[in-house]
Amino acid sequence: MSAGAGRWRGVIAIDGPAASGKSTLARRLAQELGLGWLDTGAFYRAAALAVLRAGADLDDERGAVEVVGRRVISQDAGRTFLDGEDVETEIRTPRVTEAASKVAVLSGVREKLVQSQRRWVEERGGSAVVEGRDIGSVVFPDAPVKVYLTADSEERARRRLAEFGDAPETSAVQESLARRDRTDATRTASPMRLMPDAVEINTTDLNPDQAVERVLGLVRAARVTG
Ligand code: DC
Repeated sequence: MSAGAGRWRGVIAIDGPAASGKSTLARRLAQELGLGWLDTGAFYRAAALAVLRAGADLDDERGAVEVVGRRVISQDAGRTFLDGEDVETEIRTPRVTEAASKVAVLSGVREKLVQSQRRWVEERGGSAVVEGRDIGSVVFPDAPVKVYLTADSEERARRRLAEFGDAPETSAVQESLARRDRTDATRTASPMRLMPDAVEINTTDLNPDQAVERVLGLVRAARVTG
């Protein structure tokens, strides 16, 4: 965004449950503003993949922290790497999706991943669009723009089905989303929550362009440029 206002500086935090439209919004917003886009969920997915590959127990915090500590998880241009290997496709499988929600409850794993996420943003001069569950609350609590995306559960299941054509029925997808929401919102370590200084946007009846416009409005209002 230019409009004579200079380049945006700082983090735009996009939090919210699975399939609420975060990735589409974050990617397009980043393009619009000429910023990098960080998908932190992919870090939890890559960490889960590392634990699964090591044959370690997903409920054993010490073991999982040890495995994750030995691995380098990175992201570039929307693709995720585990020790330099492109794992973007593998981390989207149902098996890794379920495992990611389990490793995400482990505070030792979260600490390591949060460090990598902050470093990623630092390396890009401190400005980026960052999506996840705890971005506005824990990773970047001082972000000048915080958005909390939601959408009705039926609409979220419909989107998930459209994304993965071979998925089971809507009700099964809805159930799996609800289970992950519950785990994400009730865990002790950095639970997903709506921060008082975040703006909640319900995307059920918004198309991607409208959602981007809404957030660009917040960005213009925040006027953090340099
Ligand atoms: O956004 P996603 O579905 O790719 O996230 C995968 C898992 O990681 C999901 O169970 C929530 C968790 N997660 C998290 O705990 N904190 C984040 N910042 C991002 C994702």
